[in-house]
Amino acid sequence: MTRSSRPKGTQDFVPPESIKKTRIEMLFRELATVYGYQEVVTPTFEHTEVFIKSSGSASDIVQKEMYTFTDRAGRNLTLKPEGTPGVVRAVLENNLRLPCRLFYISPCFRYSRPQKGRYREFYQLGVEAIGESSPLVDAETIIFGATFFTRLGITEFTIKVNSIGCRHCRPAYREKLLTFLREKQKKLCPDCQTRMEINPMRTFDCKNTSCQLLLNDAPLPKRHLCPECTAHFEEVIDSLKSTPFNWKLDEHLVRGLDYYNRTTFEYVSGVLGAQSSLGGGGRYDYLFEEFGGPVTPAIGLAIGLERTILALPEGSPFNTASRRNLVFIVWTGPAEMAAARELLNILRQENIPALMTYEPVRVKRQFHLADIAGARFCIIVGEEELKGNLYALKDLITGEQSIVPAEKIVPTFSSLRLSSERI
Ligand code: HAM
Repeated sequence: MTRSSRPKGTQDFVPPESIKKTRIEMLFRELATVYGYQEVVTPTFEHTEVFIKSSGSASDIVQKEMYTFTDRAGRNLTLKPEGTPGVVRAVLENNLRLPCRLFYISPCFRYSRPQKGRYREFYQLGVEAIGESSPLVDAETIIFGATFFTRLGITEFTIKVNSIGCRHCRPAYREKLLTFLREKQKKLCPDCQTRMEINPMRTFDCKNTSCQLLLNDAPLPKRHLCPECTAHFEEVIDSLKSTPFNWKLDEHLVRGLDYYNRTTFEYVSGVLGAQSSLGGGGRYDYLFEEFGGPVTPAIGLAIGLERTILALPEGSPFNTASRRNLVFIVWTGPAEMAAARELLNILRQENIPALMTYEPVRVKRQFHLADIAGARFCIIVGEEELKGNLYALKDLITGEQSIVPAEKIVPTFSSLRLSSERI
């Protein structure tokens, strides 16, 4: 039988790389919880219309990138290309009380050309603050993402921010942009010629250099804001001014999805190459109405997990996946093995990750097994140790060795204790 390989554009997360993923997800959960978000889990696939009516029929996602299929009963379904539409549908379908803050960690699927930082299956870490309209929430959401990257040790990023107006100021702006684009129509790429008639702002995301050059002279949304949008954006900017983060106004930033209004933002990093966006988001005050819901202001962001891993600097504690917080117990003979098993139970009851082998193998082989398991610490249970009611410890990262009295063994490892009860 020939070996199978994974589909193009997908990735395996195997140890020790998978530890980075787990740690990043745990930090995200923690920080989202600290900011008052609760977890939401929506299906991996939705009715296709959920994405068409959110992302917009002129968006690249809907036009080129969706994994759409018909199920055996003839339903038209799509694997989620992003998290937001499913969350909006779920909030309405489950009649959640508003305001509510929801976070998710979810695989997403986009049929795009794979390259460094761009995959067909990737993970998004997202938050959605639903039912809040204050510009201070916009600032808080932007700061949330920046704080997350900073806690990971990622400091080389810039936050691009812009405002793209609301349903009051946008129609006049749309006409102005459309007039501009129609004058240049013949010079635009075929995609832009179609896009502009559906949503002219979509032309700003075109990757084609000649379209980009033409758009340098285009009228920009931020210069056509109504007084309310201007005041909203000024408050967002004022809040950002008092943060330590690197941010800049980017008047061309419209984002690749149709549902945004007012504030849009993106975190970009120079270390990522062409796929420079670590994450992004914005306000989407009209999306609930698209789903038949009441007027509901909302704002959110999503961060790409794979790009975050790529951006982790050498020295980040989240990048040192070579050893995990695991205690490996090494024993020297049958009597010591019985004692080792007792100790294994005690540690596990204390929620301290621990492992040993039950195979009758030499001590050297057991250290090798500890290495394969990626354990950070070894406890050695030998004849001498048993007699003296002591354990020998070895830190496999630093090589440090020490002797610990039996009753101190649990407190020694208490910092490794896991806890799922705190949320
Ligand atoms: P987005 O900018 O399309 O926004 O995606 C967010 C992030 O997902 C990107 O910045 C990037 O890090 C990651 N990402 C996107 N496509 C890929 C890919 N093919 N491979 C790897 N990573 C990728 C949204 O999806 C919005 N739903 C964000 C949002 C939430 N807006 C409001 N709430």
